[in-house]
Amino acid sequence: MSLAEISSANDAHVVAVAHNGKLESEVCANEISDSEASQHVDSDHGRLPYPELLQALTLEEKVALLSGSDFVRSTGIPRLDIPPLKIVDSINGVKGSDLHHGTPTAVFPSSTLYGSTWNNALMEELGACLAQQAKLKSAQVILGPTINIHRDPRGGRNFECFSEDPLLSGQLAAAIVRGIQSQGLAACPKHFACNESEFKRRSYDVAEDYNGRTVREIYLAAFQELLRGCEPAALMISYNKLNGVHTTESPFLKDMLRDEWKYNGCLVSDWFATKSTAASMNAGLDLEMPGPTVFRGQRLIDAVRDGLVEEKAVDESAARVLALVEAARSSVSGAPERSEIRPETNALALRIASEGIVLLKSDHYVLPLDMRRAPKIAVVGVPATEPVISGGGSASAPPQYIQRPLDCLREAHPVPSLIQYVRGVNTNRIVPTVPLAQTMSQTGEPGFDIAYYNSGCDEPAYTERQAVPVVAMVRDLKPGLEETGFRYEISTTITPASTGVHTLAARVTGAFLLFVDNELVGSLSEQAEVSMEDFLFEPARLEHRISVPMVAGKSYHVRLVTNARIPKENDYEPTPHGAVLCYEEYVNERASIAEAVQAASSADVSIIFAGRNHEYESEGFDLVSNSLPDAQVKLIKAVAAVSHRTVLVLNCGNPINVSPFVDDVDAVLNAHFPGQEGGQAVTDILTGKTNPSGRLATTWPKQFDQEHVPSFDHFPARLTDDGYKIQYAEGVQVGYRHPGVERTAQWQFGFGLSYTTFEYSELVISEVAHASITVSIGVKNTGIYPGHEVVQAFVVPPKANVWRPARELKGYAKVWLLPGEARRVSIELQKKDAFSYWDEAIKQWKVEAGTYRLVAGPLSEAWTVEKEVTWSGR
Ligand code: BGC
Repeated sequence: MSLAEISSANDAHVVAVAHNGKLESEVCANEISDSEASQHVDSDHGRLPYPELLQALTLEEKVALLSGSDFVRSTGIPRLDIPPLKIVDSINGVKGSDLHHGTPTAVFPSSTLYGSTWNNALMEELGACLAQQAKLKSAQVILGPTINIHRDPRGGRNFECFSEDPLLSGQLAAAIVRGIQSQGLAACPKHFACNESEFKRRSYDVAEDYNGRTVREIYLAAFQELLRGCEPAALMISYNKLNGVHTTESPFLKDMLRDEWKYNGCLVSDWFATKSTAASMNAGLDLEMPGPTVFRGQRLIDAVRDGLVEEKAVDESAARVLALVEAARSSVSGAPERSEIRPETNALALRIASEGIVLLKSDHYVLPLDMRRAPKIAVVGVPATEPVISGGGSASAPPQYIQRPLDCLREAHPVPSLIQYVRGVNTNRIVPTVPLAQTMSQTGEPGFDIAYYNSGCDEPAYTERQAVPVVAMVRDLKPGLEETGFRYEISTTITPASTGVHTLAARVTGAFLLFVDNELVGSLSEQAEVSMEDFLFEPARLEHRISVPMVAGKSYHVRLVTNARIPKENDYEPTPHGAVLCYEEYVNERASIAEAVQAASSADVSIIFAGRNHEYESEGFDLVSNSLPDAQVKLIKAVAAVSHRTVLVLNCGNPINVSPFVDDVDAVLNAHFPGQEGGQAVTDILTGKTNPSGRLATTWPKQFDQEHVPSFDHFPARLTDDGYKIQYAEGVQVGYRHPGVERTAQWQFGFGLSYTTFEYSELVISEVAHASITVSIGVKNTGIYPGHEVVQAFVVPPKANVWRPARELKGYAKVWLLPGEARRVSIELQKKDAFSYWDEAIKQWKVEAGTYRLVAGPLSEAWTVEKEVTWSGR
């Protein structure tokens, strides 16, 4: 990458600069309005686009445009050749119509890994590639990126978000949006705003003022940074409330997004986040998703006729939906969804994974492994053979293929047989579905027989045979089923591989009976409240386990009978019906650990694969704890105790509590959720083919308590007399902005090791203009490997009346250097964004007079370079 490329890669801002070179006195320390520096000043703001088209539409047609037609489509108006748009998840893998499973697709890493790449140019390439993937699914709008903030390390969807830092989140996301939209598709970043927790996400109230400092400087700042760097065709409005009002009805949509930030794109509700007709229309929410509509359609027509909503509001929203259609219409196609494995896509997925995996610890020269010496390696852990590629929920997508790290390692080894694999302990949170290979259906083939019965009938209305023991019906029931009162049965014959007290489990939405050889072994007369959320995202809540003694080689006929749920009255979401039959054989934890210990003790190096998977980190719920399950901790400690050298590879979205074992191991690699090329990326780093260049986008605390995690006691929402509430009580002290971070962090924001070393030289302020300044920093690769360095530029404010974080990230650049090579890296800082804080009294950004320090280099290192800048008052 050339210098020019580097600076443009980080130059999300297009600013007209006056080159008068004077720092003091040229800009006064005072408040700066947002519109002053906004690039989105639209002289046409307030004038409706598409006036002719709008005039041609009837009120009914305009209203029709304002809600979806089904789960993934907007509504088209064929009479006027306005097509429906197909709107799909997401930026780590573009799925098709089935938002929660879908057609296989190229699965890229999760966003926390993207955050750790610190590479805007790479993200822009990713965006363009995602658009190509969306075209294979005949989709026009991609739901993402998600730029909520890593506020607390238990946030269930943090893996889907980039960072604890708003600037890094906003810039990387903007690059992805630019990439997507450069291909004639539309992006819909989300979730606006303050959606940092999953527990009670549909209803909790973030009890913070949107004109307050906390929200402006951290949570809204990510979106503001995004809008500086791109013009997303749409934005998704979140489920939660902010300051007592649902965001889909909040005045901040108009007052802040439209008037102050001049954002003109289409505002789309998160799925089922629209809660009203008039209130959401009058607040400026343009599109209710999904369809068919609940709150618009005839209800909205009536509201217009009754004077509750002005037709002008309908026109404005319809114009914005039309603009969205226009932005993406060139890619509208009715082609069937398909998956295409393309080498260039895989290469990009590999490059991203390689740039975002973070080497957290590397002692005793254990890494990189020198494969030429044919080391004897013990590979331990389930994720080495059942790779974790993504977190759970709407962001997870069905991969085209999965690489097993064990296979990749063997391929990189001159004598593959010198790699011994031991599975170790179980890493799953829920009981897995019955493995097909151990089953037999009525036909004598492996499989499951499924039968659906109407109430009181002994003859099934419908039968089918499946390879998976899963029934899931939301809106569409199986042919012949009546709306209510039906039941369905999943049956098969299971042959255990071992003798023991094994576990059968039913994950059901209704009352159930479980039979083994016609004997009732488990039942439930009434399933507790089950929401769409639980059904889609939190299988653990629906799980019932039953222990059954079983003998190896014997056949057991297993039948799970589940009743239809009784629909809730006045529920505008469809009633979910589902059942999953699960089975797991007893694993003797001690014996498994002993086996791993034996393999490790005779190896030159042990590589342990551990961490969390999508059952722990997912949309729909938050983590209960940051500790690894006991069994994994025991395995790591036992293996490390006997290994000559130990390398630990962790899969996770959120930080893990490594304190129980970090001193026992020689190296730690944070592989995040690395996507379908993850196995290769991890192998390339372990073997030195790739020099690691990922840097943490979020601080890893030493412990997980109030002392180490500022949000700890205020997460998740608490039930109050006024419903579920969250207070962002830690204010702006999120992650590295916390004053005690040096003491409380295991690894700070920006930290990550390389196989080479870098030296920084002089920071020069090369250009000063009215709105921006450019700094340049010399960086040299002083080691023996080529590699990327991430240059991080922080601003340290002067002592002032208001408390401010000790330093804040205001720019960054990633540079590739050969051994011995030196370059100067340029970073442009926007004055208003780099030096100001949000002054609540005047509801404006304010730059205080005084001397600021510009510091370049990772937070945790002493070898930073710096320069002072003085801004004076008038
Ligand atoms: C999620 C969104 C997602 C949508 C569509 C919702 O549950 O919050 O992020 O885009 O579903 O799948």
